[in-house]
Amino acid sequence: MGSACSDVADAPGRGMNLAGVFDGRNAARGWRVRAEHLDDIAAAGFTTVRLPVCWWGYAQSSYPYRLDGRILDAVEAVLGEAWARDLAVVLTMHHADAVYGDPQGSVDQLVAIWRQIAERFAASTGALAFELLNEPHPPMTPGQWNALLPTVLGGVRDVDANRLVVIGGAEASTVGSLRHLELPPDDHLLATVHYYQPFHFTHQGAPWQIGSAAWLGTGWGSAADRAAVTSDLAEAVAWSQRARVPLYVGEFGALDRADQGSRVRWTHWVRRELDRLGLPWAYWDFGTDFGAYDLGRHTWRQDLLDALTRE
Ligand code: BGC
Repeated sequence: MGSACSDVADAPGRGMNLAGVFDGRNAARGWRVRAEHLDDIAAAGFTTVRLPVCWWGYAQSSYPYRLDGRILDAVEAVLGEAWARDLAVVLTMHHADAVYGDPQGSVDQLVAIWRQIAERFAASTGALAFELLNEPHPPMTPGQWNALLPTVLGGVRDVDANRLVVIGGAEASTVGSLRHLELPPDDHLLATVHYYQPFHFTHQGAPWQIGSAAWLGTGWGSAADRAAVTSDLAEAVAWSQRARVPLYVGEFGALDRADQGSRVRWTHWVRRELDRLGLPWAYWDFGTDFGAYDLGRHTWRQDLLDALTRE
């Protein structure tokens, strides 16, 4: 993809996750990305959008695992609008539940889907990266994920030798999962981390996390809290230096159930640390339950935007 790919990896790339558009399971379409959203994202100084897509919901379940052309068209339209505003795009493989449950049994489908995506965008000149699997996680083990990687990456590489590819570790892309990650040799890889620590703070009251109601009321902001973030991120950077693979923090954020003051403090501190370390990042997310933007009122939540963009 030539020089364009460096846009995603360039530090300090600042990004927004466009969650809730195409990542519903069962091909459920969510909110629609409008020109004004991308205008506002670019005007606020963001340089990247990460677009989560549940491709699995749009593909045939047996060979040749053909993707519905309508999802490719819809994604391409968003990419075109993003590129028209000089926004680089990271395209994910979200909620590929079959892979987590049965890695060997679903690798053919994963490869087939990636080949179709890679073919569709092979000739595009806009900055674009592919994230092979969002938050690989149990029951798939790190060993199974490492064993799958050459095959899945190979599917993309057969079509596109230089496309920037993003890969996270098999414990939901946490910092700790990096230590088990074994990347195939390749000159166009970014390792990714999702940062949601402390989890009981960022995911308090999350409907999809069993027991998280008990975490409601967890605040954030002590010196020890800040030091823990610094230490976690230092661990990630140390791995990246050892492995000689650049890092991308593709998600970080705190759910709207947390007290707003604590959310803003956490977001500001994490973001400043990421900038200090020169790590490109994307906030989770733009317009849903972690949202920095109020889709109904067509405006930023100013305190979160400030936390992401101001000193
Ligand atoms: C998941 C979302 C979730 C978010 C925060 C994402 O990777 O796809 O469903 O809301 O992480 O936990």
